[in-house]
Amino acid sequence: MAETNIRALLGRWEQDGRLLRIRREVDPRYEFGAVVKADKGQHPLLFERIKGFGVPMTAGLGGSKELLADSMGMAPEDLLPDLIRAIVTPLPTRSVERAPVHENVLTRGISLEKLFPVCTYHAEDSGAYYVSGVMVVKGEDGRKRYTSIRRMQVLEGNRTGILITSPELLQQYREYEARGEAMEAAFMFGVVPAVVLASQISTHLFHADKLEVASALLQQPLDVVRCKTIDLEVLAEAEVVFEGRILPGVREPEGPFGELGGYYGGQSDQPVVEISAVTYRNQPIWQTILPASYEEKLPMAISREIALLSSIRQVVPGVLDVHITLGGVGRYHAVIRIRKTQEGDGKTALLAAFAGDKDLKHAVVVDEDVNLFDPLDVEWAIATRVQADLDLFIVPGAKGSPLEPSHNLRGVSAKMGIDATCPLAEAWHYRRTHIPGQDEIRLEDYL
Ligand SMILES: Cc1cc2nc3c(=O)[nH]c(=O)nc-3n(C[C@H](O)[C@H](O)[C@H](O)COP(=O)(O)O)c2cc1C
Repeated sequence: MAETNIRALLGRWEQDGRLLRIRREVDPRYEFGAVVKADKGQHPLLFERIKGFGVPMTAGLGGSKELLADSMGMAPEDLLPDLIRAIVTPLPTRSVERAPVHENVLTRGISLEKLFPVCTYHAEDSGAYYVSGVMVVKGEDGRKRYTSIRRMQVLEGNRTGILITSPELLQQYREYEARGEAMEAAFMFGVVPAVVLASQISTHLFHADKLEVASALLQQPLDVVRCKTIDLEVLAEAEVVFEGRILPGVREPEGPFGELGGYYGGQSDQPVVEISAVTYRNQPIWQTILPASYEEKLPMAISREIALLSSIRQVVPGVLDVHITLGGVGRYHAVIRIRKTQEGDGKTALLAAFAGDKDLKHAVVVDEDVNLFDPLDVEWAIATRVQADLDLFIVPGAKGSPLEPSHNLRGVSAKMGIDATCPLAEAWHYRRTHIPGQDEIRLEDYL
């Protein structure tokens, strides 16, 4: 059974020898982020001593497909099919009355910057930010819970800023604001990677209760408990929860901030959250996700892969797999693998991919004999199967991603598709060389 709380997960990873414990004191301003970045998403990390704070902090729980899948007790190749299954057949959560996250409840004198480690990550960031809290709000229907991650700049006392870029959630907040009401929101820190992954599935596409999707991923109902000061439910086994309200009619400057794409985003006026309660487990473990790290890009990339796969499948049923690469920031580059049955399948798959994801910029389609996870194999297919005048197309002036500077400076984005599949009539000429017995060779046997 996969673990439903990070203590049990970190415990197993420690026993397996995967967990790296950092015993030396680390400064939450820059040094913490620099150490996490040095590990390149390879290990879960547990920092025992964070300068100025009395609680340990973990990061890197889902920095690679292997770790992410392992946290849910599955193989990396099952990530996509299992997530699709979880969206299609979500598992209801279980309501409980008593919860570990309510072992400590703070409702007065909340001074956020003193409570839990809050980090400053990049040189030009405007201040210290919480970047990993999984926010819960009511869904548009008032019934479903809507989870997502939104960064929060620490302001004075019990206030933070919040950056919401998703149009649906912004619209929901504006409707509260138009009525002069605050929007209740809870922020869960220290949750298992399945909850982070599920939070990233596109709300407007799937309209799922993402906590139920996380339960289905873990194949057991997650326990939820009612908040103490607002009408929302949160995970009973979260390490820490902030309960609060996004205020109507209040804005504070937010940014610059080192964004996903590896550049600084500018400053803008954004809404403000007022925290009404902080609840936490005894001996809490604080958790964060390094901005622009693999741990941030991977769950976004996987949720986008699902959307791409379903839009391509409508026109090219022979699509086998898609891979949104992390080098392409987890959203701008895709490799699509198809079993080609008709001439035109390659370019049609590319058109469907661009129609299915407005942020996608460059995409390559390969045949089923190519390993789409191996950049050398994909490059080999481009090198040996593509004639640029026939197999490449560019669509100028389409929509793009607001997080991408080359789009922002021009206001539109070009799309480039590369069809690296072989023409069906010439397939015989594209047989890969093969040495009989190669796959069974173990070099050790010959040394
Ligand atoms: C680590 C992390 C940090 C994120 N930070 C933000 C953020 O600050 N603002 C934002 O709007 N989206 C952020 N996102 C993306 C949203 O969480 C994501 O768009 C959302 O969960 C998907 O639902 P949606 O369809 O409502 O966009 C972040 C994602 C991750 C994984």
